[in-house]
Amino acid sequence: MGRVALVTGGSRGIGAAISTALKDMGCSVAATYAGNDEKAAAFTAETGIKTYKWNVADYDACKDGVAQIEADLGPVEILINNAGITRDAPFHKMTPQQWHECIDTNLNGVFNMTHNVWGGMRERKFGRIVTISSINGQKGQFAQANYAATKAGDIGFTKSLAQEGARAGITVNIVAPGYINTEMMSTIPEKVMNEVILPQIPVGRLGEAAEIARAVCFLASDDAGFVTGSTLSANGGQYLA
Ligand SMILES: NC(=O)c1ccc[n+]([C@@H]2O[C@H](COP(=O)([O-])OP(=O)(O)OC[C@H]3O[C@@H](n4cnc5c(N)ncnc54)[C@H](OP(=O)(O)O)[C@@H]3O)[C@@H](O)[C@H]2O)c1
Repeated sequence: MGRVALVTGGSRGIGAAISTALKDMGCSVAATYAGNDEKAAAFTAETGIKTYKWNVADYDACKDGVAQIEADLGPVEILINNAGITRDAPFHKMTPQQWHECIDTNLNGVFNMTHNVWGGMRERKFGRIVTISSINGQKGQFAQANYAATKAGDIGFTKSLAQEGARAGITVNIVAPGYINTEMMSTIPEKVMNEVILPQIPVGRLGEAAEIARAVCFLASDDAGFVTGSTLSANGGQYLA
């Protein structure tokens, strides 16, 4: 088998596309999720990719979860930090809970997962870490001070770890998607989509999850060994960082 890959939030949305693309690339893939058992079971039935449930905001759960996956599949060589949430509100209405939930999942979750695979990657002198940030971490977004802070934080984290991992054969990179055609987007009214969102995207359409997955697969591949600390924007030209 190919390399062992762990995709957080890999059971649906962009994560599901990443999990299946890595499997198609020859990897042994483990996908994690937080609580939606039904979606996870359907994903496993459809793809044969095993799913594991824990909260990435919980350090000890990440440690135990990684240990379980390594017992099942072998040492994790590729980590995709994809799990993420939004808790939108204009700042004057944002509650401490909305702030902390975003930080706990999108930023602390990235620390918790990366910290639990880092030692093994250093020992084996190989690793690929790709974190899914967002266009809104690059440019900011109304009502997303919490989310944008976490996604910008993920970029700073990545640039720092890229420097620490370089001599150990570990690359650390970011993919920053723009608006992607996921369940989240299907809730947006057609008028808002056509008159507000699409006109902001020069290519004139939403991105597809599979397009994000292909960018991730490149950064996760052995071929990408000279690419580290980079942010690959996949946003249809909406924001040129
Ligand atoms: N969709 C977009 O347009 C877009 C644009 C830019 C960036 N992004 C980023 O891309 C990533 C994926 O987004 P998406 O739209 O595909 O998300 P999604 O469809 O809502 O799926 C999120 C996945 O993450 C899991 N998850 C959420 N919180 C978790 C936690 N605390 N612990 C473990 N797993 C957790 C979910 O598990 P359950 O199924 O159990 O809930 C699910 O598998 C996120 O980081 C998001 O910020 C998305």
